[in-house]
Amino acid sequence: MDATTNIPRTMRFEDGRLFLLDQTRLPGETAYIPCETPEEAIDAIKRLAVRGAPAIGCAGAYAVVLAANRIPAPDGAALISALKAAAEPIASARPTAANLRWAVERMLKAAEGKEGFSPGEIRAILTAEATKIHAEDAEMCAAIGRNGARLIKDGARVLTHCNAGALATGGTGTALAVIYEAAGNGKRMEVYADETRPLLQGARITAYELNAAGIPVTVLCDGAAASLMAASCVDIVLVGADRIAANGDVANKIGTLQLAIAARYYGVPFYVAAPTSTFDLSLPDGSGIRIEHRPQEEIATIDGHRIVPAGVMTYNPAFDVTPAGLISAIITERGVLDPPYRQSIADMMLRKQPPPPPAALPKRHGKTEKIEG
Ligand code: MRU
Repeated sequence: MDATTNIPRTMRFEDGRLFLLDQTRLPGETAYIPCETPEEAIDAIKRLAVRGAPAIGCAGAYAVVLAANRIPAPDGAALISALKAAAEPIASARPTAANLRWAVERMLKAAEGKEGFSPGEIRAILTAEATKIHAEDAEMCAAIGRNGARLIKDGARVLTHCNAGALATGGTGTALAVIYEAAGNGKRMEVYADETRPLLQGARITAYELNAAGIPVTVLCDGAAASLMAASCVDIVLVGADRIAANGDVANKIGTLQLAIAARYYGVPFYVAAPTSTFDLSLPDGSGIRIEHRPQEEIATIDGHRIVPAGVMTYNPAFDVTPAGLISAIITERGVLDPPYRQSIADMMLRKQPPPPPAALPKRHGKTEKIEG
């Protein structure tokens, strides 16, 4: 049985419009933002209405279609040339997640060499490519789930951070896909979700989707995670990733690094789950990963109320980098990678496994409705 059936779909593309689940309104409301222009999609990505590395990759691909549909080009060559310029603001809407630029570049590649085609034909090719990226993402999530589920023992207590679930992807998630697959195999689990300050993806989104999936979940303040490990209440830590360098250093939501350090100290295995679209082999290690810094209001205010005295500075990086040496294994759609990662990552990427056949997108309810908070 698919544990994610009751989780709303992150996005859908219909009649030339992109509908994005507005995750800023979760868990109180499930409402979709209709995007007709690339600017609307970029705005949704920037303010985290759609978020999670794989999901912003899919949204970015559809945003390229929105751009192509609005460029008034007389011929294919003009369309492709204008599209390249239109694609850059999409690819750079958020800098840390590798999937966004990866997806936009794949879209441009789909149009490459098609200058002789009509604008209508190129738009159809782009729509098909974005749909394929979305379907492949769903398939990669399912494969990550299958590959990772064997790492979960019946009765496991799993600590996770941020949201690496269905709502962060075009499918069932990365880290949480492993949980959903294990649950489907009849394993019982208890998940601890860090609240994930400042935007509360753990409290609002992970807790929401695990609850909808019927998986017991307990939310804790980020600062309580080490004490939970000290009390021997965590069997494994399982998180997603935004970008993984060639040596296995992992950028993920701010706070991941301190979890990995605590996990090492207390002897708790620390696993990362991510699709190959999150790997960036152009970076030899994590020192070159660009970390997004977010506005100070995100930590200086809560619900519009100032909690940090006026004039006091804030430090608000959205991500940190966990060194490969703290990571027990990396779960991908092509298998589970063990250290040393420079070798296992290179082997996996070189294997050039053909992408899995496009599957139907998972059936989940996508209603616009109010949900009891
Ligand atoms: O700022 P966000 O909410 O986009 O950050 C998301 C994360 O850090 C996730 O852990 C990561 O993207 C993996 S999602 C499968």
